[in-house]
Amino acid sequence: MIHEVAVIPGDGIGPEVVEAALGVLDAAAEAHGGVRFRYTHFPWSCRYYAEHGRMMPEEGLQTLSGFESIFLGAVGWPGVPDHVSLWGLLLPIRRRFEQYINYRPLRLLRGLRSPLKGIEPGDIDLVIVRENNEGEYSNMGGRIYEGTPREIVIQNTVFTRTGTERVVRFAFELARRRSRRLVSATKSNGINFTMPFWDQVVGEIAREYPDVTVSSYHIDALAAYFVLRPKTLDVVVGSNLFGDILSDLAAAIVGGIGLAPSANLNPERKYPSMFEPVHGSAPDIAGKGIANPTAAIWSAALMAEHLGHPDIASAIVQALEDTLAAGIVTPDQGGSAKTADVAAAVKARVRGRS
Ligand code: NAI
Ligand code: MG
Repeated sequence: MIHEVAVIPGDGIGPEVVEAALGVLDAAAEAHGGVRFRYTHFPWSCRYYAEHGRMMPEEGLQTLSGFESIFLGAVGWPGVPDHVSLWGLLLPIRRRFEQYINYRPLRLLRGLRSPLKGIEPGDIDLVIVRENNEGEYSNMGGRIYEGTPREIVIQNTVFTRTGTERVVRFAFELARRRSRRLVSATKSNGINFTMPFWDQVVGEIAREYPDVTVSSYHIDALAAYFVLRPKTLDVVVGSNLFGDILSDLAAAIVGGIGLAPSANLNPERKYPSMFEPVHGSAPDIAGKGIANPTAAIWSAALMAEHLGHPDIASAIVQALEDTLAAGIVTPDQGGSAKTADVAAAVKARVRGRS
């Protein structure tokens, strides 16, 4: 069986961690036999933008639609405004392909150290389910009287019933398969139209899941809970903005952004889903060969799982955890290993040679 994967390494450390991750994925597929991944690389990035004046060709989305899934490194580079790189590539892919679930699991693996006191491996094991198509990240709004004292800037937030129900339902389903506990991020005290609507939908869908206990917390209080009692959190569902912020926070409490994987899912599988580390292109460490490939390798495992190979996925995560536990870690984790050293060690372990 051959899976066709479109690969967009992107900018900065993107290509470095993508190479590491795909090497591990190939080794794991080989060890399991009968499965292969075939990669088609696309150079779409800020470099591409400098040459062509756009992040991807006009027919880019059409091209991607022919693949089973998409694997992405990171996009963004000084010189190209971040809203240009994001709205020119990543957001159109997430939206056109109705990847309305941003699935972000975080676990304190053995070998990682939480910056929080008294937290041991195994204590943090949660998933953030972030709405990925609408909400606060809308391109509706405008700006008038620019540069004058009368300047007015408006950005609209868009919540649809369809969009809200489907992400909330996904989270309830996930909670049912895990701890049967769901936390919903809200802010219905300050944001008085969209957030009460969000709470209402959570309440309506909760009736379909009497076996799941749901708690709603205002986002500010919830941010504190991530720090004060992360052990109590399991599945957390939030809007586009809240989910984005909480996932960087969750990454921080397991040791940093280099550890956080993500899947942009189209659960109906009508379109390709996209897998990528949560982190960006990290211009400050790009080109040094020291980026932590954990997030990208774990994202490759999520892709294998989505494509129907949970055995390959768990072999990768296991090998990754064994590697970290053996102290083979990059400088962000206090080690001296290079990106390639970590990748080689994980590969050796998925092949059973370590
Ligand atoms: P960033 O995630 O690139 O970097 C934040 C900090 O974390 C930096 O100190 C960086 O060195 C460190 N870091 C990130 N990934 C790491 C890894 N794998 N190993 C070790 N250290 C790592 O976020 P920042 O600096 O806000 O953004 C840089 C660029 O990336 C911007 O252009 C931004 O728009 C873009 N970006 C792209 C994303 C994407 O493609 N999905 C997501 C976030 C940012
Ligand atoms: Mg983010």
